Amino acid sequence: MVGTVWLVALFGFFSEAYSANYECQGVAQYGLTFYGMWSNMTHPNAFPFPSGRFSPLVGASHESAYSLWMSGMKASQGVKNVAEMGKFLAILKEREFTFSAMLSLPAPSSDLKQEIMQRITSTKTAWKQIKSGNMAINGTERVMNIEVEVTKDFPYVSLVTMLAPSPDWFTGIMKVSLCNASSGMWMDSWTIDDIQPWDAGTDNGTTFRATDNPTMPPGYISMITTTAPPTDFMKLSASAIPSLGKMMFVRQNKPTMNQCSGMYYYTVKFEAKWSQATHPNGWPSGAHFSPLVIATHSYKYKMWSDMTKASPGVEKVAEDGAEGTLYNEVNMMKKPGFVSNVYKTGGVSTPGGHTITKIMVQNMSSMVSLITMIAPSPDWFVGVDSYDLCGINGWKETMTMNLLPWDAGTENGQTYNLNNRATDPVDVIMRITSNSSSQIGAHANITFATVTFTRGEMITTTTERTTTTDSSAPGLSPGLFSFLSISLLAIFGVLY
Ligand SMILES: *[C@@H]1O[C@H](CO)[C@@H](O)[C@H](O)[C@H]1NC(C)=O
Ligand SMILES: *[C@@H]1O[C@H](CO)[C@@H](O)[C@H](O)[C@H]1NC(C)=O
Ligand SMILES: *[C@@H]1O[C@H](CO)[C@@H](O)[C@H](O)[C@H]1NC(C)=O
Ligand SMILES: *[C@@H]1O[C@H](CO)[C@@H](O)[C@H](O)[C@H]1NC(C)=O
Ligand SMILES: *[C@@H]1O[C@H](CO)[C@@H](O)[C@H](O)[C@H]1NC(C)=O
Ligand SMILES: *[C@@H]1O[C@H](CO)[C@@H](O)[C@H](O)[C@H]1NC(C)=O
Ligand SMILES: *[C@@H]1O[C@H](CO)[C@@H](O)[C@H](O)[C@H]1NC(C)=O
Repeated sequence: MVGTVWLVALFGFFSEAYSANYECQGVAQYGLTFYGMWSNMTHPNAFPFPSGRFSPLVGASHESAYSLWMSGMKASQGVKNVAEMGKFLAILKEREFTFSAMLSLPAPSSDLKQEIMQRITSTKTAWKQIKSGNMAINGTERVMNIEVEVTKDFPYVSLVTMLAPSPDWFTGIMKVSLCNASSGMWMDSWTIDDIQPWDAGTDNGTTFRATDNPTMPPGYISMITTTAPPTDFMKLSASAIPSLGKMMFVRQNKPTMNQCSGMYYYTVKFEAKWSQATHPNGWPSGAHFSPLVIATHSYKYKMWSDMTKASPGVEKVAEDGAEGTLYNEVNMMKKPGFVSNVYKTGGVSTPGGHTITKIMVQNMSSMVSLITMIAPSPDWFVGVDSYDLCGINGWKETMTMNLLPWDAGTENGQTYNLNNRATDPVDVIMRITSNSSSQIGAHANITFATVTFTRGEMITTTTERTTTTDSSAPGLSPGLFSFLSISLLAIFGVLY
């Protein structure tokens, strides 16, 4: 009885611990649809009839520390130019024009595109540019299939589009996350249906067709309301400005979720194939694979993945072959719905070495990931990212994979050597291609190791008891034993 109370208390603590915020894993693609909802029907007297329109949408997916624009911030040169492009439309007045006619004028979004490009390639604070094409969007048009890509490190989206013609008024979204932090899953769809007008703070004209009147010095980005600052939007009889449009993100690459019943053992056999004969370019002395870290988990967890930044644990494995940090990292994610087990092996000599590990999988924790360093090397590794042992026809029998080399994006270096300069800013994990100028580029497509997963026996309550109760615990009754092991598991869960 006392024990039960204690266990319940522990469990309460344990479940509390995972109501925290979660990162979404890997990469997710979305199709964005923009619906314009700006006309003199919806915004009587607050629409520059008949030529009111939006400029092509420009934006980016980015990290938390950066946003294209923010309320209360000064507009960057790029955002200013997009917002002010309205004045060129004002110059063109009511003439019907095409966006290509405007291309002879200073390109409105080129500064912003350059800013974003700089963020992507140099400071690595943004991931992918988002753009809706080169055509202006009329007030009630719908633009579909705008490509958006977010990743674990860059889950936010910001976009701008000018309200044209206008002094420096624009609309858009700032720092919208496509990750549901309470579940750690990418949103299936996400709609923003209130899009308000903003003032870039760079031109103080008060009407859509006001002549150019730069604010000196520039002010801050602020929301336009029906009361401030003085704009044509004050002419609306409504107390709030109706939304200017709608943005709908729909996920393209939803994970398929197979379900398999029961709990199974699998063996994981890792075999080294890397040899001087097969991989002659720069063959290092002491070539080997570092101790493997293997995890079984659900789709909500990723040990590592293409196009995302390496965790500190993955960096340690890739750079030094040290598995401890990663092992602890995975252990910390050991909770229902995330990681169910983590294993580590010894190092593996090459060529010819191998290691065999028995792992356990079950419904909703049917994926396996592993990693080991190609040693010595700067930050090169081989591994498996979230291979699902549960298929459409149930638990898979056997699977062999040829492992090809990856770069963790954390350390520079061209040769099979340790101790190089850190990559700054840190890059994302990428497959090493034959384009790479490093020694390993020549081996980009040559198998470094194979891994074979083979299904073993089903785990029943009885097999579990016999495999976990070893001869060192002969006196325990099965009931007491399972109570103790559950308690130990609970303690483990709390400590990690
Ligand atoms: C929109 O406004 C213009 C001028 O202000 C007017 O000529 C036109 O009829 C209006 N259109 C609608 C649909 O109300
Ligand atoms: C806006 O574009 C849509 C779709 O291209 C078209 O059906 C509509 O007539 C256009 N409206 C105006 C005012 O040009
Ligand atoms: C986020 O996930 C939680 C937990 O699964 C769910 O209850 C909630 O509805 C989700 N939110 C959105 C916006 O999808
Ligand atoms: C706009 O700014 C300019 C220069 O800063 C100033 O001369 C002008 O009076 C301002 N106009 C309004 C309407 O605030
Ligand atoms: C797998 O787990 C899910 C969620 O707990 C459950 O809804 C489903 O019925 C399970 N499927 C099988 C085959 O056990
Ligand atoms: C590798 O080079 C080829 C042409 O030499 C190019 O088409 C390809 O995109 C490059 N791949 C990568 C990943 O850079
Ligand atoms: C390596 O594989 C890629 C993709 O499969 C292929 O495009 C490339 O040509 C291959 N390179 C070599 C050197 O075989």
